[in-house]
Amino acid sequence: MASLIAILDVKGKPLIQRMYRDDVPVTSLEQFIPIIYEMEEENQQIVPCFTRDGVNYMHIKHSNLYLLAVSRRNTNAMEALIFLNKLKEVLIEYFKALEEESIRDNFVVIYELMDEMMDFGHPQATESKILQEYITQEYHALEIQQQAKSLASVTNAVSWRSEGLKYKRNEVFLDVIESVNMLVNTSGSVVRSEILGQVAMKCYLSGMPELRLGLNDKVATESSRSGAKAIEMEDMRFHQCVRLARFESDRTISFIPPDGEFELMSYRISTHIEKPLIWVEASVNHFGTRIQFTVKVTAQFKRSSSANNVEIVVPVPEDADTPKFKVPAGSASYAPDKSAFVWKLKKLPGGKDYTMRAELSLPTVRSSDVDYALAAEKGQRQPITVKFEIPYFTVSGIKVRYLKTIEKSGYQAVPWVRYITQNGDYSLRTGSLPSAAARGDGYEDH
Ligand SMILES: *[C@@H]1O[C@H](CO)[C@@H](O)[C@H](O)[C@H]1NC(C)=O
Repeated sequence: MASLIAILDVKGKPLIQRMYRDDVPVTSLEQFIPIIYEMEEENQQIVPCFTRDGVNYMHIKHSNLYLLAVSRRNTNAMEALIFLNKLKEVLIEYFKALEEESIRDNFVVIYELMDEMMDFGHPQATESKILQEYITQEYHALEIQQQAKSLASVTNAVSWRSEGLKYKRNEVFLDVIESVNMLVNTSGSVVRSEILGQVAMKCYLSGMPELRLGLNDKVATESSRSGAKAIEMEDMRFHQCVRLARFESDRTISFIPPDGEFELMSYRISTHIEKPLIWVEASVNHFGTRIQFTVKVTAQFKRSSSANNVEIVVPVPEDADTPKFKVPAGSASYAPDKSAFVWKLKKLPGGKDYTMRAELSLPTVRSSDVDYALAAEKGQRQPITVKFEIPYFTVSGIKVRYLKTIEKSGYQAVPWVRYITQNGDYSLRTGSLPSAAARGDGYEDH
């Protein structure tokens, strides 16, 4: 019936669109409003249905929004208009009012609804009562009939999954793992930062399940929506099971998963981190053959979170020995093989800071203040590195809105979703230089 359904603002800009068949050009949306203006100018009545360049446009207007159906084939226009009215009613029932804002705020849900309401251009469930219960068996039953049909046609193409798999408990595990790469220079400025994200899955599901993953609105690529507070993802990569065309058209990640463990997708976000999650400052002082470090760690993330297994590796001169540590929390140990000491904290709560002290001996007194200062200036001093894991948290703000499993036998699969943010290459060159009077050690790395 319809190849494309869209909601446009008063200037004709698409707020949301869903392609059901790709037999109409995407540019057809751009053609719509000029035709409306044309009709207005010529003092014609604006008709709800018209044809241009072999493309059929059918629309209704609601306050300052256009709900539009586009098709190529000879279509039952009445059916299309009824569908658009149903869509309008459902959206009003869901969001109380249908306005630009309610669309922007409910992107993913609307995609979901558009998805349920129409399949391959044919209206399906359009009763909001049924839609609202869509997680129940009833809904699944409805969904399965059409799914069984479409699955049969694609089964042959699924090379990554064998048929006849059976599990007693059908479970899906999904981990969103984000690694933070960051470098802070000696002046305490973040000079490089990026987030590498990964969505890893473990699927223990019977039969040929169809999965649909909806992420929150933060997910966007350069070419997609502009304006909204979306995070720009670069280098998005998907497992071969993901239907890319579908993702391109409406951001839904739909796939028949391989059995067991696999990486569903990965992404990179270049972002300037204003406030590093974990901040470490070190100051170094020399007294004759003693070298003293004061290291302060601050957890600059929200109080309701905690970092686990924090390890702060502070480089020391290669020939330092007899270390003494004073730690307010966790434990410190010397790692001569790395020319560093390591401060470990099992747990570092958000908002908290701790300061530890370390003192080591140097075999000889050397006068290399100049070398030290030069090396630091050139950024050659070995940086402090930090390892950490923050569970239940993604630094990018990405969240899973829903993860649905549909299989023709009708089982319910339990989805388990976890989030974790961890260190990648997380380095800080912070640390003040020894005072001019103090004897310094050459930190230059050869
Ligand atoms: C650190 O980076 C900031 C910002 O890029 C820069 O202004 C500053 O000069 C850098 N400091 C050093 C010591 O390179």
